Amino acid sequence: MATSLIDAATTAHDTPIFSLAARVASRNAAFAGDSIWTELLKQFAQHDDPVYFGDGAPAKEMMPVERLREASVKAWQDAPACLGYGEQAGFSLLRDLIAERLIARGMRAAPEQILVTSGSTQGIDLAARVFLEEGDAVIVENPTFLGALEIFQTYGVRIVPVDLDDSGMRMDALEAALRDEPRAKMIYTIPTFQNPTGSTLPLDRRVRMVELARAHNVVIVEDDPYCELQYDGEPVPPIWTLGDDVIYLGTFSKTIAPGIRTGWSVARPEIHRLLLANREVMDISNDRITMRTVYHTAVDFLDGHVAGARDVYRSRRDAMLSALATYMPEGVSWTRPGGGFFVWITVPSSINTARLSEQSATRGVIFFPGHWFYPNQDRFNTIRLSYSTVPEDRIVEGVRRLAETIRQYAAD
Ligand SMILES: Cc1ncc(COP(=O)(O)O)c(C=O)c1O
Repeated sequence: MATSLIDAATTAHDTPIFSLAARVASRNAAFAGDSIWTELLKQFAQHDDPVYFGDGAPAKEMMPVERLREASVKAWQDAPACLGYGEQAGFSLLRDLIAERLIARGMRAAPEQILVTSGSTQGIDLAARVFLEEGDAVIVENPTFLGALEIFQTYGVRIVPVDLDDSGMRMDALEAALRDEPRAKMIYTIPTFQNPTGSTLPLDRRVRMVELARAHNVVIVEDDPYCELQYDGEPVPPIWTLGDDVIYLGTFSKTIAPGIRTGWSVARPEIHRLLLANREVMDISNDRITMRTVYHTAVDFLDGHVAGARDVYRSRRDAMLSALATYMPEGVSWTRPGGGFFVWITVPSSINTARLSEQSATRGVIFFPGHWFYPNQDRFNTIRLSYSTVPEDRIVEGVRRLAETIRQYAAD
């Protein structure tokens, strides 16, 4: 049985006069349990050729490796000038390029409002640093992105889950949460092709969210990594365009590659200055060569690249939806996302998907059980399937294996 980080650190070097457990900050309690990666490694050992539906990343074949390689050569032409400290808010040409790309989303942001971050993960962390202190509350969708939950846990804040439906966060539930939580300071939302459900918040709810946030004096963090990966329908305006106290987070992780660790925040000047000041004390700046590499990769290339990626992921989504319709037994339902990487499955409540995930690993299909995404880990009949990295024939095979496992579970 794997131990938690704290247990491992404690048992390895403890002596009567040196106890690490007594010294580590209480925020490390967020890491007390087994990591999900430990759990997944065990599952991978169960089958020779598992179909893996866990990866919330672009497909390897959609990562523009040659383009990145060529771009990195151009990036090094700025050395040694760019090898000192500097560019804390980000490489100026990259900020200009981000500002230009945001216009297509209806966002008119000055480059001075943009902070280049180490992925949107750092943007979430910075927003938490700026706004949250111990005892405050943050409102999140129920379920939501696992990484955000882990960040909020380390700040010692109360995480208030608000239910969603097929159209994202429910505004009646948000209103009730804001009424009941006087210490709520932030709404963290993924309104477009949400992780993990794939749902998208329609315009009227976005407008309502801004009204409620203003009335209760809370800031909105709009985490928007999947917006460019829209496969059908019309785009919905970002929440950022509807209100002042919105921090918008974007990333190149889903359109180029997550390993380049390049994202950005957009906020009004007063908030931007605080994000930047906190960023400077954290790690000074993004890697300056990588920022140039991303710029030279994206310029005159990214739109075409993303259009190609959309075609690939649309086909994979369609393959998954059609396989679900073909193989799933009665009583199983799922979302039909207009973009992004995820389909969210609901099974009858007699099925515990934590247990199901162990059984399905032995049958050669690995997925993320839904309880990982609920702040209270209290619902056990959902599953997140990611289709972005899985070829169509393997998607069909994986869904077939999963359906078989569900039938078997129900029969036992
Ligand atoms: C909603 C959401 N936010 C943030 C991230 C992390 O993105 P980044 O690689 O830019 O830190 C992910 C990645 O899975 C995500 O789904």
